[in-house]
Amino acid sequence: MSLLSALSLVCGLMLHVSFSALNTHYCVPRKTVPYQNELKSFSEEGIFNYSTMLMRDDLGVVLLGAREAIYALDINNISVRKAAVYWRVTEEKQRECTYKGKHAEVECRNYIRNLHRVNDTTMYVCGTNAFSPSCDYMTFANGRLRLEGKQEEGKGKCPFDPFQRYSSLMVGNDLYSATSINFLGSEPVVLRSSDLALRTEFKSSWLSEPNFVYMDFVGESFDSPDGDDDKVYLFFSENAMEYDFYRKVAVSRVARVCKGDMGGQRTLQRKWTSFLKARLDCSLPEPSLPPIVQDVFLLKHRDWRKSVFYAVFTPQSSLSQASAVCAYSVSAIRDIFNEGKFKTPVAVETSHVKWVMYTGEVPVPRPGACINSVARKMGMNRSLDLPDKTLQFIRDRPLMDEAVRPLTGGPLLVKRGPLLTRIVVDSVLALDRQRYDVMFIGTENGYVQKAVNYAGEMFIIEEIQLFENPVPISTLRLSSSKGQLYAGTDFGAIQMPVSNCSRYDTCVDCILARDPYCAWDLTTEQCSPVYGFSSSSNSAIQSLKEGNVSQCPQPDPVAAVDFTLVPENNIQLPCQLHSNLAQVLWRFADQTLHSNNKYYIYSGGLLILSASESDVGLYTCDSVEQINGRTYNRTVAVYQLQLYSGPGVGDRTTPGNEVTNSSDSIYGLNTAAPELVTVPDSEDPLSPENQSDTSRVTRLEVAVGLLSLLCLSLMGVIFWIWSQGRWECFKLAQRSSESEGKRQSAEYMHIPNRTSEIKLLGPESGRPCSANNNHSAVDFKGNGEHHFTPMANISSLDGLGYINDESEI
Ligand SMILES: *[C@@H]1O[C@H](CO)[C@@H](O)[C@H](O)[C@H]1NC(C)=O
Ligand SMILES: *[C@@H]1O[C@H](CO)[C@@H](O)[C@H](O)[C@H]1NC(C)=O
Ligand SMILES: *[C@@H]1O[C@H](CO)[C@@H](O)[C@H](O)[C@H]1NC(C)=O
Ligand SMILES: *[C@@H]1O[C@H](CO)[C@@H](O)[C@H](O)[C@H]1NC(C)=O
Ligand SMILES: *[C@@H]1O[C@H](CO)[C@@H](O)[C@H](O)[C@H]1NC(C)=O
Ligand SMILES: *[C@@H]1O[C@H](CO)[C@@H](O)[C@H](O)[C@H]1NC(C)=O
Ligand SMILES: *[C@@H]1O[C@H](CO)[C@@H](O)[C@H](O)[C@H]1NC(C)=O
Ligand SMILES: *[C@@H]1O[C@H](CO)[C@@H](O)[C@H](O)[C@H]1NC(C)=O
Ligand SMILES: *[C@@H]1O[C@H](CO)[C@@H](O)[C@H](O)[C@H]1NC(C)=O
Repeated sequence: MSLLSALSLVCGLMLHVSFSALNTHYCVPRKTVPYQNELKSFSEEGIFNYSTMLMRDDLGVVLLGAREAIYALDINNISVRKAAVYWRVTEEKQRECTYKGKHAEVECRNYIRNLHRVNDTTMYVCGTNAFSPSCDYMTFANGRLRLEGKQEEGKGKCPFDPFQRYSSLMVGNDLYSATSINFLGSEPVVLRSSDLALRTEFKSSWLSEPNFVYMDFVGESFDSPDGDDDKVYLFFSENAMEYDFYRKVAVSRVARVCKGDMGGQRTLQRKWTSFLKARLDCSLPEPSLPPIVQDVFLLKHRDWRKSVFYAVFTPQSSLSQASAVCAYSVSAIRDIFNEGKFKTPVAVETSHVKWVMYTGEVPVPRPGACINSVARKMGMNRSLDLPDKTLQFIRDRPLMDEAVRPLTGGPLLVKRGPLLTRIVVDSVLALDRQRYDVMFIGTENGYVQKAVNYAGEMFIIEEIQLFENPVPISTLRLSSSKGQLYAGTDFGAIQMPVSNCSRYDTCVDCILARDPYCAWDLTTEQCSPVYGFSSSSNSAIQSLKEGNVSQCPQPDPVAAVDFTLVPENNIQLPCQLHSNLAQVLWRFADQTLHSNNKYYIYSGGLLILSASESDVGLYTCDSVEQINGRTYNRTVAVYQLQLYSGPGVGDRTTPGNEVTNSSDSIYGLNTAAPELVTVPDSEDPLSPENQSDTSRVTRLEVAVGLLSLLCLSLMGVIFWIWSQGRWECFKLAQRSSESEGKRQSAEYMHIPNRTSEIKLLGPESGRPCSANNNHSAVDFKGNGEHHFTPMANISSLDGLGYINDESEI
């Protein structure tokens, strides 16, 4: 290949990458719902860590496990406590625990960890019990919660360390658990506690410093043509074994075991014969180390093949702030385990092992497979009958070669800002008789993001602030039948409805919200829950994918509000938009107003500095919102400015419509006003509301320029520049939007303490996130052909110093 064509190829690829990365959506929630005191919540004085929840729709309660307490709360109103039971550590246990060097008041307590249904009246509960995990049966009968006091051994079922992640699941009478089995937390196991207990091998190829996240059951034996078994799927992250790197890299995994597994006869005695794991792929649209899975939700479908796991990922390097949601179909995961190739370790140098694709012969029955018709035909009815060859193979090679790819090729959602922590998903039947998967995602600062992916378009309907303080959401549960969401944190639990259509008070707002739960009722003229309409009803409208408001009745013209102008005073005309995605457009005397040394446009309205008689007239505030490339204008407010004709023109205390310094506070911008007057020159960064298209274009230009530059100096250190250069791109793009801001701010000025005001409105209003479904990222494929080349200056590379071989063309 000639130098030139090589260059053009590289440059073309880079351009492609940056084009698609720049073709981004703004993952800004359309609406921010601030904390409302009226949400139903629960907490008890002196009790913390409300982190375990069991929904019992059948009993009408939510069981909530906290530190040394378990509550039965009314599922309709969790403020109503139906019963409680306390399970405190004994003084002796606490003393033992402190002797071993643990903190008495923090670690040497009993944190409720497992809470599972056994039968109608009985639950199985485990707690950390001062680093001495222990389990018990608990009944809820006649309005009372009671622990049976059986104090079963909890080792391997429940973590010792309350800060360690774990997962557990009850299937029939068997408890599946994934946690550490020792005091130090250094021996991870995936355990089944049953008549025939099984566990994983203590080998780092099976589990290497894992963080267990989630487990669920898929009834794959149902309607299975090959006589397959039911499975338990496990999600976790662990140290990667498939990458060569100068330091530890974590990867996200899905693993599974068969329900009917009984272990091997000689090899893998009392160990899983069906433990297989694969890497989970969820590529972010920017170079980064593989993101780490934090939580998973299984959206079950009647046909298990169509069930989907939704997973939340966060970055493993603090350099990145982008969290993502990726979805994986059960069938895709199953295909990789049932048909995929294995990875195998090979020694490359002394004491160095590399995992590569296994190309040799695979024994029959297939290693790791459940007992199915193939095995049965060979006379093997139980895993105990499996030949040593099959078992030895799987004991040494539990990792699949191929990674599980997301259902949509890339993330369903990418969001910058506060990290996402937990997820639940509701399948909602909309007016068009289609089902939409609505994701509710908890954040580390006490918000829930309600999001949908409409055919590739990431859309956050709203973000709801559940907790007044920015506490991480540590548990999220959904009751679809009740239409309620339950969230737990260290300080309490809260309940919120999955939707509140009455938040949208006009037809246009209701339609543009694109909330599958809500439709506009033409007869009552209200935004109402969709389930209230019969399918034949044509009195309701909804337009989820398009956001087409053409069926909405023409809104009544907005009545003009009279405002009085006092010459030489500042005048504030408030105008609050309904959507974070909308831009404001002020008009006066057929002119569009821009921020300059006379006008000051900000998120709360318009400020006319030092008004004069020539400012008398009609002012209109329009909201301009882009949905799917279409623009919707609507008038939000109209003001008629009139000259003040009362006594004392110099009287500066006319309330309401005149701003000298602090009357701004009526609109909740207490500190804004004094500074307002002192920012006549346009040196402020661009206001986030208006950085969409322009900055995107400029970013593109800069990226193109940079890339051409790169292309010229590329040879020689091509890969090094690949990763670094893209990062440069990213930084430059940010810088360019700043300079863009300076250029533009003459038009659209910025309120100095705007950031604090944004914080008031939401955790990150207006902050865009780059996201797309085009799989544009430098990808972290791991097919064994990967090396990380250690680089000279390690400290400067933190988190980014890896090189992707496959970026080679
Ligand atoms: C329990 O809650 C307290 C209070 O916020 C917190 O300091 C502690 O870290 C929590 N413990 C665990 C194990 O999460
Ligand atoms: C929920 O229960 C609390 C405590 O009993 C009560 O004050 C509140 O009014 C209830 N809310 C509703 C909507 O029933
Ligand atoms: C529920 O399970 C417990 C514990 O296994 C058992 O003692 C009890 O009899 C069961 N109750 C019912 C109604 O099946
Ligand atoms: C396996 O099951 C079949 C049918 O249930 C039976 O005929 C056969 O003898 C069993 N084989 C063994 C090895 O147990
Ligand atoms: C729904 O929203 C309306 C308007 O914001 C509010 O008054 C009402 O309290 C909300 N209802 C619930 C259950 O949150
Ligand atoms: C919006 O809906 C109207 C009526 O249903 C239809 O005529 C129009 O073509 C739609 N517009 C778009 C852009 O889809
Ligand atoms: C909508 O806004 C654009 C400018 O963004 C303007 O040109 C157009 O006239 C507006 N349309 C209506 C109906 O107000
Ligand atoms: C302006 O601010 C100063 C200092 O904050 C205050 O003393 C004064 O009363 C304010 N004037 C008006 C008209 O609010
Ligand atoms: C936002 O930016 C566009 C350019 O993309 C510009 O035409 C428009 O006037 C700006 N809006 C405001 C309110 O400054």
